Order: sequence, then C-alpha cells, then structure tokens
Amino acid sequence: MPLCVKPVRPDDLHAFCVEAMLKAGMDRADADITAEVLVATDTWGTYTHGTKQLRPLLQSYRDGRMDLHAKPELVGQGASWATFDGHHSMPMPASVLAMTAAIDKAHQTGIAVATVRNSGHYGAAGYYAHLAARQDMIGLSFTNVDPCMAVPGSRGPVLGTNPIAYAVPAGDEPPVMLDIATSVVAASKVFALRDVGKPIPDGWLVNADGLPTTDPTGYPAVGALLPMAAHKGYGLALMVEILTGVLSGGAFGNGISSWGGGPVAPVSQSHTFIAIHIAAFEPVADFKRRMDELTRQIRSAPKAKGSDRIYLPGEMEHESRQRAIEDGMALPDHVMLRLQGMAEDLGLDLIRIYGQHAAGGATRKERHG
Ligand SMILES: NC(=O)c1ccc[n+]([C@@H]2O[C@H](COP(=O)([O-])OP(=O)(O)OC[C@H]3O[C@@H](n4cnc5c(N)ncnc54)[C@H](O)[C@@H]3O)[C@@H](O)[C@H]2O)c1
Repeated sequence: MPLCVKPVRPDDLHAFCVEAMLKAGMDRADADITAEVLVATDTWGTYTHGTKQLRPLLQSYRDGRMDLHAKPELVGQGASWATFDGHHSMPMPASVLAMTAAIDKAHQTGIAVATVRNSGHYGAAGYYAHLAARQDMIGLSFTNVDPCMAVPGSRGPVLGTNPIAYAVPAGDEPPVMLDIATSVVAASKVFALRDVGKPIPDGWLVNADGLPTTDPTGYPAVGALLPMAAHKGYGLALMVEILTGVLSGGAFGNGISSWGGGPVAPVSQSHTFIAIHIAAFEPVADFKRRMDELTRQIRSAPKAKGSDRIYLPGEMEHESRQRAIEDGMALPDHVMLRLQGMAEDLGLDLIRIYGQHAAGGATRKERHG
C-alpha cells in the first residue's frame, strides 16, 4: 500500500520544508527560496529532485560538507556577466541569486551569463531556466556533479551526470522546457529504485568491470552510470563541465566531492546560468506567436502506430503542476520515506504536510539515507 494516502497540497509541503530548515538553523529567507525550488520541482512530477533532496542536503551541513550560515558573494562582474562564490552555502538561494543577476543584466545587454562556484547540489536544473522564461527570456542552466558516469572507453566514473536545462516562453501554449541529465538518467532515479529494492532497466549502469548490470545495490560506490547517446552525452557533459567548473574558477572533475556519501569534504559543485532577452531580438509577442506555431506543428505531426500524442519538452511537467495546484500531489513512497526520515532527524511531525487533514500510512522507515 502506498505511504501517501492523501494528496498533499504544495503550500503545506512548503510550510513543512521551511519548518525543517528553520529547525536545522537556516534563516527564513533562504529556507523560503529553497522550499520554493524543491516544492515546484515536486509539482512538475520530478519527484527525484524535489523535497526528497532536503534531508540529505541538511545532512550535508551536519556532516560539514556545506556551511549552513555561509552566504553567496558576488566576486566579479561586467555588463553581461557575473561570478559568485557560493562559499558552500545552500545551493538554491545562491542559484536563484545568480540566475536573477543574469536576467537583470540581460535586460540591458540582450544576453548575460552568471556562474556560481563552491556550491552544492542545486536540484532540478530546469527550475532556474524557468525563472528566465517567466520573465520573457530564454533561460539555460547547467551544473557539474561529482564523477559518477563512465565515458566511452572508461571502466569507472569520469564525469558527473552534468544536467542541461533550457526553458522558453510561448503564448497560448505552455513554455517549452527540457531538463535532462547528460547520463542516460539522473543518478537519483537509480537511488529511487535501489531504495525500494527494485532492479534498474538495462542500459543505465555498468558494474565494477564496466559491464552492463541491472543491479543497483552497489552504486555509486561500485560501477558507473552511462552517458546518454554514448559519445554525444559524453561531449555534452564535458561542455557542462567546462561552462561550470572550468569557467567559474571552481572545482571540476575529480575536484568535486559527493554531497551525499563518501569522504567528508566540501562538495564544490559549480553552476552556470544564461539569460537571453527575447525583446532584444524581436518583439516578444511575435516570438511567442512563432513559438505557439512551432509547438502546434510538432504536436500535430503524424503519430506513430500505437501513439496518440506527441509531447513538447516540459508539457508533462506543466500539466502535472496544474494538477498538483488543483488537486494536491500523491507523493511517491521514496519521497515519503525521506520526508519521514527528515521529520525524525529534526523532531518534526510529518502530519503537517497534510494541512488540516489527518495523515495515514507514512510510518515505514527509510532504509537508505
Ligand atoms: N543537480 C544535479 O546534480 C542533477 C544531476 C542530474 C540530473 N538532475 C536532474 O534530474 C532530473 C531528471 O533528469 P533525467 O535525465 O532523468 O530526465 P528525464 O529523462 O526524465 O527527461 C526529462 C525531460 O524530458 C522531457 N520529456 C520526457 N519525455 C518526453 C516526451 N515523450 N516528449 C518530449 N519531452 C519529454 C521532459 O519534459 C523533461 O524536460 C532533471 O530535473 C535534472 O535537472 C540533477
């Protein structure tokens, strides 16, 4: 029986997460931003990177991988660029700050880039790209990650799952948003199956010998994820590594530490955000009309046998969010187990996520942190 027996309202989940962060010692402004990023990610149905991540994030402060009281610092800027040092603070406020700086500068210059070094796990790349799209800009977002992915010819991990996201506003149609790891899947999807004792699909993982496996139990200590589309995913992951760690003056490759396990060391991930001001190129209304036209062309293309719908990237997330706002979310077990674990860590009552309603279930223990 699933643990989440009642739909959870996004506002109630936000309040629970803020309460957890305040209890852990964060200030309210940073807690609010972090909860907004994580809960919005859940509303998209990207449960592997939403509020589930809060427990290990707070654990990484207790372990000394991150600094709960640090604040990001602007360390360099020009008309169309900015560089921040996250000083190992909570990554979500630092990332929102940097994307906001890129958006502000792009209003003046047409395009702007902001980097953050010495940061940590910022969650779903798409959240930050969508901040630009909300302001009639094209947004791009990248982060490097500690090595957990093989590259063609290697046996073990060489690069991280280095995600790429872009978001683009449209008119009557939903915004387009692609948000993907450059590995076959995000590592969290392996953990989500591993944590409930399930095998993973073929083609995701190799074992210690570099051979295909469906057994996730040893990962990430043993084995490695595969890049998406072989050398193509490898090349894009490398681009992300260059745009983030190398360009920001931060850590790259082996210089990045795991944020969730292994030896305790500063995590030192880097992020890069790009905002493109559409109005500098063409009137926004024209752009949005053309985006709608492109969307409809794609959606109305002839369907393959057995297919009744073509989705645009971001469309599933858009519809999931509408449903979450209207009806609440039935959080999957792997998320409920994490939230339950976090409630126990901090002496909180998980029933708060159900607002006025009584909760049922939510009592099984999380088997893996
Ligand atoms: N911060 C980190 O360390 C880190 C690392 C890796 C991944 N991630 C995050 O993990 C999440 C999941 O990554 P993933 O690679 O497993 O994603 P995924 O393979 O589930 O792909 C998701 C994307 O593909 C689009 N999509 C899916 N099916 C589609 C279809 N039929 N037609 C059109 N578009 C479709 C979705 O709209 C979405 O943009 C992302 O949010 C990513 O940012 C984070």
